[in-house]
Amino acid sequence: MAIYFDKETKTFFLEGKSVTYAFFINNVGYAEHLYFGDKIGRDCLMFTRGALRGSHEACVPGRMPMGIESYNKMGCELSFFGTGDFRECTVQVEREGGNRLCELTYAGHEILDEKPPIDGMPSMRGTRTLVLHLYDEKAGFGADLFYTVYDDCDVIARRIEYINCSGEDIRLHRAYSFAMTLPNDKYDIISLYGGWANERQIERTPLHHGVFDVNSKRACSSACLNPFISVVGRDTTEDFGTAYGFMLVYSSSFALKCEHTNGGDVLVTGGINDFDFTWTLADGEKFSTPEVIIAHSSSGIGGMSRTLHDALRNHLIPKKHRVAPRPIVINNWEATYFKFTTEKLCAIADASANLGIDTFVLDDGWFGVRENDTSGLGDWVVNEEKLEGGLDAVISHLKGLGLKFGLWFEPEMISENSDIFRAHPDYAIGAPDRQRCKTRKQYAMDLTRADVRDYIVNSVNSILQNHDISYVKWDYNRCPTEFMSATLPKERQREFHHRYALGVYDLFERIVNANPDVFFEGCASGGARFDAGVLAYFPQIWTSDNSDVHMRTAIQRGTSIAYPISASACHISAVPNHQTGRTTPFTSRQHIASLGPTGYELDMTKITDEERELVKRHTEWYRGIEELILTGDVYRDSYRTDGNVSSVTVVAKDKSQAVTVCYRALNLINTSLVRIRPRGLSASKSYYCPELALTLSGSTLLNVGIIPSFANCDFATLVYHFEEK
Ligand code: GLA
Repeated sequence: MAIYFDKETKTFFLEGKSVTYAFFINNVGYAEHLYFGDKIGRDCLMFTRGALRGSHEACVPGRMPMGIESYNKMGCELSFFGTGDFRECTVQVEREGGNRLCELTYAGHEILDEKPPIDGMPSMRGTRTLVLHLYDEKAGFGADLFYTVYDDCDVIARRIEYINCSGEDIRLHRAYSFAMTLPNDKYDIISLYGGWANERQIERTPLHHGVFDVNSKRACSSACLNPFISVVGRDTTEDFGTAYGFMLVYSSSFALKCEHTNGGDVLVTGGINDFDFTWTLADGEKFSTPEVIIAHSSSGIGGMSRTLHDALRNHLIPKKHRVAPRPIVINNWEATYFKFTTEKLCAIADASANLGIDTFVLDDGWFGVRENDTSGLGDWVVNEEKLEGGLDAVISHLKGLGLKFGLWFEPEMISENSDIFRAHPDYAIGAPDRQRCKTRKQYAMDLTRADVRDYIVNSVNSILQNHDISYVKWDYNRCPTEFMSATLPKERQREFHHRYALGVYDLFERIVNANPDVFFEGCASGGARFDAGVLAYFPQIWTSDNSDVHMRTAIQRGTSIAYPISASACHISAVPNHQTGRTTPFTSRQHIASLGPTGYELDMTKITDEERELVKRHTEWYRGIEELILTGDVYRDSYRTDGNVSSVTVVAKDKSQAVTVCYRALNLINTSLVRIRPRGLSASKSYYCPELALTLSGSTLLNVGIIPSFANCDFATLVYHFEEK
């Protein structure tokens, strides 16, 4: 891992595990992107600039006519508005008097040994960091571009700080986190779209000329489009070819744009969504943008996923949860919904004891007055009328059973029918002259306000400090709709989306980070806030409210494109499934729910003796493969990915063991046999597979594959283990 500056050619070489990222400062001081890909020599790359010639473009101010040097044609690290660059700009700034022109050129650089954190926002940990200073003298406006490289994964972490030194207020109309150009080629874009109970579906579309835009305007990342895109070669597959990944470490309104320009090159840029955004920056102030993680792989989409998984696990997710076993929970939500008593909860706990489950999680409905979803949110006071003996009665019963206690909160929300709303209706986001929109019959709190955040922090922390709670499920069931705050001055209302994000992170700091002994799991109506910003605080996130084997297979597959399976919490729920009405085998539910931190979400008092035995066997087996799930490399099969059969293999880093989970949706008669190739195994090792009762060489398994003989039913799964011999 090195950051090297060639003084002669003014080229920066940022070298990671097996990648080089290169850009240089050209003769007008512009930071021109040259290369990001497999590691190369520290050669002069000026020969790659041929495309700049002969075009009829606006030339760099003060330079030769005929567009020999046009900002519009140069590779870029940051693009700006008003000096001949017509691509998506990275920053647009307006000075007093309305001048929006900008030209940011080299003003120096520093190489730091430690990566500085971002004020008020999550980011990757790291060491060697380049800070590139760009400045526009006439505007009194600067941009510091931060680049961090890693020696254990092929990513570059980037972000920008914008600085106002103009002596007056300026307004940022766009303040993205990065820009980068890819060489002219035919590319596809992979994005993750969806909705409630159908999160992170994979969509691959050809990149056309013009702008491809993935965004959120919801002040949360949302289930609709994830803050992630991958740009892949048109012929890239799961296993072969070039793939770039761009992931924002951000949980509010975002934009990721990919522009196939008229010049042929492809510009990728993004960060905070500039829709409904203007930020006033006073003289001397800095504006920090969220981080973007940029990954490169030349071993296909799978390689890019594994690169991102390593980056997030090693450098973003709280360190202490990297390999430590996770709680195996029993959650009462689908067993009882809001209708429970202390007695019922204790009965579920009794039925869950001695099965390898270690934590009982009490979901929604324990606080305020909350018999359904119309009331109580924000009143974080135990409802002892409903829960006789309060939380402590449940906790002490659990202790007797050797179980720990977990609790559900939805800290960012408020019900109209709640004591807190009656006392402080202004705590809910809304406009004074309009009715507020309800989503799931509730309002979102105004997290841009310090007093609202203080209220939340104090009431949640007081529950955590006064009870023996080892786990929290932090839910978030709606996004804001009225993007304004009663306390922001009118010229700052368009700062709402980002100020809201800063408010969310402030809560995470003061509740999650302030309670280091509590294990926090993220949740948002299922997986509607599954992003790297949340993962910086929460080691795992509830993947989806949909735990139906068939749909979950696709949801988990899509999630694993960008996020490690160690982050994807998965539960076994009852059949018929509450979301899809589908009935699937118990063991299939167990296998699919083991491709992530596992748990149960059904009424344990209602399962059969045979199923109890299966639970016992499952939890024991899961603990045996848990380290693989938390730290292994994931290989999705590339065969029939949208078909009837799919498989996922998780391989230990040292390739000494692996587990393959195969799934077949429908039991079709007389159709061709499917081979599963457990990729990721070492061709030169030998593996014992207990299910086949055979020792086979890795090369045989990889090339010949295995033919799974599924049970004679729909929605069947099969698991194969491979242990080095
Ligand atoms: C959300 C979550 C569920 C459950 C309910 C409780 O929908 O995703 O798991 O906690 O809220 O209201």
